[in-house]
Amino acid sequence: MADASSPPTDQLAAATLDEVPKALFSDRVPIRSIVSRPDGGSALAGRKARVGGWVKTGRKADKDAFAFLELNDGSCAANLQVIVEASLGDLGQIVPTGTCVVVDGHLKLPPAGTKQKIELRADEVLHVGPVDPAKYPLPKMRLTLEFLRDFVHLRSRTNTISAVARIRNALAYATHTFFNREGFLYVHTPIITTSDCEGAGEMFQVTTLLSEAESLAKVEERSKLKPGIPKKDDGKVDYGKDFFARQAFLTVSGQLQVESYACALTSVYTFGPTFRAENSHTSRHLAEFWMVEPEIAFAELKDDMNCAEAYVKFMCQWLLDNCLDDMEFMADKFDKGCINRLKLVASTPFIRVTYTEAVEILEEAVKNGKKFENEVKWGIDLASEHERYLTEVKFQKPVIVYNYPKEIKAFYMRLNDDLKTVAAMDVLVPKVGELIGGSQREERYDVIQTRIKEMGLPLEPYEWYLDLRRYGTVKHAGFGLGFERMILFATGLENIRDVIPFPRYPGRADL
Ligand code: 4AD
Ligand code: MG
Repeated sequence: MADASSPPTDQLAAATLDEVPKALFSDRVPIRSIVSRPDGGSALAGRKARVGGWVKTGRKADKDAFAFLELNDGSCAANLQVIVEASLGDLGQIVPTGTCVVVDGHLKLPPAGTKQKIELRADEVLHVGPVDPAKYPLPKMRLTLEFLRDFVHLRSRTNTISAVARIRNALAYATHTFFNREGFLYVHTPIITTSDCEGAGEMFQVTTLLSEAESLAKVEERSKLKPGIPKKDDGKVDYGKDFFARQAFLTVSGQLQVESYACALTSVYTFGPTFRAENSHTSRHLAEFWMVEPEIAFAELKDDMNCAEAYVKFMCQWLLDNCLDDMEFMADKFDKGCINRLKLVASTPFIRVTYTEAVEILEEAVKNGKKFENEVKWGIDLASEHERYLTEVKFQKPVIVYNYPKEIKAFYMRLNDDLKTVAAMDVLVPKVGELIGGSQREERYDVIQTRIKEMGLPLEPYEWYLDLRRYGTVKHAGFGLGFERMILFATGLENIRDVIPFPRYPGRADL
């Protein structure tokens, strides 16, 4: 990760020795490079520093002779205590929560017995971005995460949402590190697509016909043109007149396109936004979410499971190594067990059971009195309650369920020799349930063609996909990890709407 404490040499030369070096590209010292040092910053006592941030709490003291500010700039969870003398400015203006201040000052050791290791005594206040406390929507009090969802443009200033942002960033960095170390190429797959990857019809349509129809209606008022959406003779919408000259959608997965790169470059991955127009109001579903999708040629289901397990373990260890202060905050405020969970997952092998074995385990549980809302029998799609029973109650660790009935899985999954199941796998984890869905892909031309037809899907849009089987076909496998679900799993937060900066779900798309 970028080391904020190492400035370029010319800046070092310019700084007099007793100044703490500023961030490379902004005019202040990141608070992290003061308070997140192993000594808590105490060795910096006596040095000058310019800091900027937003006031978490401010109070006047000593008959208004001083103000004490807890300043946070988002570079780490911890605040820096700043002491400002009344002679330096209007203290009443700088103490309200949410105020932005930039100060020059010198670092000093606080009086013995305080919990900070270092504080900043201001010499000059360079900037104040004031706040009217009567109007500021995020007053200094414990605000619920639900309340904060109405202020997605300001909630990043709270301890929780900023910790989530740093954890999210760390997991993205871990993702690119993991796959690049293993020789995978990062491929950008399209966001606008004309293929329905999951064949589930849960796509948002992309069209300019509606806005054209609106402006056409206006033109029509003047010139009596035929208004509205263009129709064909059979009364259906004429998408030939649409922007892409055919029906287009937001992608539900980059898999199909990334397969074409795997079948040329061998090990690839895509990591981008995906969209599902399912009317799910659960704490695990978003209409816009991010997915990490590796795809590996010359690989079978076992390789796929090995990759998924290694990747999840890598991310857990990464957070322990690089994000411990934010994880400690999460453990303290939301989920006592979250750090131990990361340790456990990073170090223990995942359980692997076939779908058939999983159903037997669930049936056994029912026999012993466990009540599920959804009936358990071979052939059902496992419901979230079943998945969570397996991973949270039965095994208490991540579980990979594989070889699912073909009827409940997508057309592209490889048919097993029993002709009843496909080489699919889901990784289930405590707290979340399904974290990853993946499979070995059907590489046999005849079989996949039959599967597409069996599923009642049209062949035409998949012709290019069939080409990958027509020309130089190869065994290959891949999976998709729901990035927000990984953050839920890591942080222990309850609702997926709190782990993406700007959540989109039925009825809501703020900003
Ligand atoms: O299981 P899914 O639907 O698999 C695919 O899309 C495959 N094409 C992936 C592949 O093989 N390349 O989705 C993958 C993961 C799920 O396991 C889940 O974690 C997450 O994406 N996911 C969602 N996350 C948030 N909101 C939603 N609506 C989600 N739907 C799926
Ligand atoms: Mg799935």
